[in-house]
Amino acid sequence: MCGIVGYIGPRDASEVLLHGLGRLEYRGYDSAGVAIDDGQHLQLRRSVGKLANLAAQLREYPVNGRCGIGHTRWATHGGVTEENAHPHRDASGEIVVIQNGIVENYLELKERLIAHGHQFVSQTDTEVIARLLGEYYDETGSLEQAMRRTLAELRGGNAVVAMTRREPGRIVAARLGHAGGIVVGLGDDEMFVASDVPAILDYTRRVVFLDDREIAVLDAGGATISRLDGTPVTRDPMSIPWDPVSAAKGDYKHFMQKEIFEQPRALTDVLRGRIDLDHGAVLLDELTFRHQELRQLERIYAIGCGTAWHAALVAKFAIEALARLRVEVDYGSEFRYRDPLIGERAAVLAITQSGETVDTLAAMEEARRQNAKSIAIVNAVGSQAARLADGGAIYLHAGPEIGVASTKAFTTMLVASYMLALRLGAVRGVLSADEVRRYIQALIELPGKVERILERQSIYEELAERYHGARDALYLGRQVNYPIALEGALKLKEISYIHAEGYPAGEMKHGPIALIDRDLPVVCIAIRDSVYEKMISNIEQVRARGGHVIAIAAEGDTLMASKADYVIEVPPTLPLLTPVLTSIPMQLIAYHMAVHRGCDVDQPRNLAKSVTVE
Ligand code: F6R
Repeated sequence: MCGIVGYIGPRDASEVLLHGLGRLEYRGYDSAGVAIDDGQHLQLRRSVGKLANLAAQLREYPVNGRCGIGHTRWATHGGVTEENAHPHRDASGEIVVIQNGIVENYLELKERLIAHGHQFVSQTDTEVIARLLGEYYDETGSLEQAMRRTLAELRGGNAVVAMTRREPGRIVAARLGHAGGIVVGLGDDEMFVASDVPAILDYTRRVVFLDDREIAVLDAGGATISRLDGTPVTRDPMSIPWDPVSAAKGDYKHFMQKEIFEQPRALTDVLRGRIDLDHGAVLLDELTFRHQELRQLERIYAIGCGTAWHAALVAKFAIEALARLRVEVDYGSEFRYRDPLIGERAAVLAITQSGETVDTLAAMEEARRQNAKSIAIVNAVGSQAARLADGGAIYLHAGPEIGVASTKAFTTMLVASYMLALRLGAVRGVLSADEVRRYIQALIELPGKVERILERQSIYEELAERYHGARDALYLGRQVNYPIALEGALKLKEISYIHAEGYPAGEMKHGPIALIDRDLPVVCIAIRDSVYEKMISNIEQVRARGGHVIAIAAEGDTLMASKADYVIEVPPTLPLLTPVLTSIPMQLIAYHMAVHRGCDVDQPRNLAKSVTVE
């Protein structure tokens, strides 16, 4: 969850590190710090709070150097203090280290180190790594060897980056498990290392990702990669298609706002090259399954966390309806702990924006352990999920998503799920080419319809003005829009801190109805589908108890205008595809409420973009 960046080359290291950390601040932002080799000493600058504080410190106490490492912290062990901010030093002060992840056995290691005479200055697990590196450096005289020996002692998942004054111009980076990614960026006579691509995108797009148990030794001329057991690794660099502009805010006030407005483009890109309208076919060549295997599949486990779990719920509706294939939906954090019986003719469908969510990755590993293939629907190119997906990685091509609240990744996850469902439906003989064509046509029209929804902005400001003081909110939907009610509630609570609950509307009378009073806004998704009449009844029940109804309704629904306090219209599409459209008002309601309440939209408290701890 923490952000990592490192640099060696001719530029001013503090500038490159600050810039990279700025791009990563969304990952974690309790504190930030850098360590830079000024040619004589390793200079540390650390500060609590936003990156601006670190930048101010660097302005006051500048460091000149060409090699350094930097970190934004999302606290796991130890409070938010300067002492706990990374980088951490070893006992000699000559080695510095930053980490993303958790050292599960840190107490045990710490006790041993204390018995050796170490006096810890922080409460973090990372300081244990620093001190171990110091001990092993004394024995081996090499940072690389010290790193190998240190990692052999750690339990848990970690991405670790270190440097030492004794080996100027060198950075050693390693990855252990799935708690954090490491990407090495290759420039001309300069090298970069980071936890995520956006940190280095302004400098290079040529990158190499480290796999589990790999170590990279970088100097300005290049990087050598090997496994922790010493086996050399040769891996061709890949080119990242994202451009730097897509990782910047541009004229928008917040990344979340920018990403909401990018959806027409993102929805076009996720379809590009994957659909053939003439032949009524979805291609998805990235799937590695043989036709026979797809035909014989008996079950899919759709897995995700948070918003991606909501996408998995929609995927269940789509795959069961279009391919008549049974789908079970699981939280990544629960799947492996319930000892799932995956079975031979089953596949895991892992849905994840970052491709680094440790619980989702663990589900993929569980699939592998039980000899089942996994497919990833994933945004981050080259991420761990993409690489673990032996059944194929369906990239979202949404571009970097920086705002912590997922928006464009969610709607593109839905479209990727529809394409997968259509492909399965066609291969399994459930859908004719004509039926597939009808869906493809409707998918192609979605970006334009999203654009239409985005054009009508004034209603959201009005809603924010009216309801920003609400203590609670309820979101109701039915059938394939029930996951969107959950998503709407999640969006609102995570960025505006208003308590919100999402429910299948039919469940309202089994409990949540007790919450309804004259202060409660109730967002109801009531488009013209097979459950429209039932939603109308639910709306009546809310109104009868004085609740305020904000309806997401079909364009031109005059009945709704007489029933609801506010109506937000969405254009018509095939019922199964409506979640892509109904999601947009959910995002905009949450966004405007949060802005009105003065919340930090892109960096909500306590949250991080990539959740790389359990
Ligand atoms: C909510 C949100 C989170 C993520 C969840 C999974 O807006 O963004 O709930 O959806 O942490 O992240 P990924 O998709 O990266 O696996």
